[in-house]
Amino acid sequence: MVKHVPNSLIREIIRAAGGHDADLKDLAARHAPADIVRVLLDEITTRCPAPVNDVPVLVELAVRAGDQLFPTYLYVLKGGPVRLATKDEAFIAMRVEYELGELARELFGPVRENVTGVRRTTLFPYVADAQSEGGEGSGAEHIGTHFLAAQQGSQTVLAGCHSHKPDLSELSSRYLTPKWGSLHWFTPHYDRHFSSYRDQQVRVLEIGIGGYKHPEWGGGSLRMWKHFFHRGEIYGLDIVDKSHFDAPRITTLRGDQGDPDYLRSIAEEYGPFDIVIDDGSHINDHIRTSFRALFPHVRPGGLYVIEDLWTAYWSGFGGNKDPKQDSGTSLGLLKSLVDSIQHEELPEAGGHRPGYVDQHVVGMHMYHNLAFIEKGTNAEGGIPPWIPRDFETLVAVSSGGHE
Ligand SMILES: C[S@@+](CC[C@H](N)C(=O)[O-])C[C@H]1O[C@@H](n2cnc3c(N)ncnc32)[C@H](O)[C@@H]1O
Repeated sequence: MVKHVPNSLIREIIRAAGGHDADLKDLAARHAPADIVRVLLDEITTRCPAPVNDVPVLVELAVRAGDQLFPTYLYVLKGGPVRLATKDEAFIAMRVEYELGELARELFGPVRENVTGVRRTTLFPYVADAQSEGGEGSGAEHIGTHFLAAQQGSQTVLAGCHSHKPDLSELSSRYLTPKWGSLHWFTPHYDRHFSSYRDQQVRVLEIGIGGYKHPEWGGGSLRMWKHFFHRGEIYGLDIVDKSHFDAPRITTLRGDQGDPDYLRSIAEEYGPFDIVIDDGSHINDHIRTSFRALFPHVRPGGLYVIEDLWTAYWSGFGGNKDPKQDSGTSLGLLKSLVDSIQHEELPEAGGHRPGYVDQHVVGMHMYHNLAFIEKGTNAEGGIPPWIPRDFETLVAVSSGGHE
């Protein structure tokens, strides 16, 4: 069984990477550098894009912590993920050396655009082995093939060593999520609403890991969020055991989104969350229950997102094809939030008593099959009682009695 690094250590590394040099020194003094290096290497292998080189190469990645050096070898070949390897599995194309704190900043600090001079690199010449010498494809052509592979392999590893910003449509394709490109076109909306959280140390909970009954299927969106929120902790909830996807910065939870007590218990243990995304059963009653249970556990300034609103019209999901019969549907809930946002303007005589949702929903964005609900303090104050409530009087008062 794979032993995962505790989230507490990752959290400390992320915090220090966003701080001053003293924070990084302090981190290195409190933890064994080998443990920190392990976290960084794991992050790099998950961030590397799919290799494109046809000839296998190794990239030596050396991390220096004071006078200690931690060399590792990453195997890169088209058709498989970048993985740790031993020194003799292929020819070493490049040596890349980072100072520990610098690599931590590159991976987990706020994104630094256009930085240079953060690493040492050495490109090794390819030395043809005795077998290939004189044979077909030897000489310049052979060296050229290996040079191309060396270049492609090194670029793959270097692309995993920092927090560049691919957009969510690209990440969705890379991690094979259904959020863009077939049934759904959600990722541009996510980019728009999530961009300001991207550099933050966020906690994100997504209901619905994917793959339904198959424990090892799905997981694409958790990996996508992990890559996108490069300083974040990602929690995934599914009714099926999906612990196969547990990884550094990804924690899977097993439970029913229709059970409010369970939802509250996980929120108390792992929350509050900056973002909650409901992409679970899409059963209308579940969507409403989950919102009521989890919205109080979203941080002020956070977002609650609901996907696949089409089920609001489908009786097989507890929806109703008549949009006016929406009292039990997801869209009925969302329409009621329009009044919640405006609750301070409701006439007092109506006897309305604001509830938690009224007091904390501050905005909402509706798209085709997707809604974003913004959390905050909804208390700007209603229009004061002395402002006339009918148009003619308002005009008269505002005109100061002038005809
Ligand atoms: C649409 S998939 C999620 C896809 C994933 N978010 C993605 O974008 O790649 C829905 C998942 O919700 C899970 N699910 C179904 N009913 C659930 C429930 N009552 N509570 C929690 N998860 C549930 C299913 O097992 C399935 O894996």
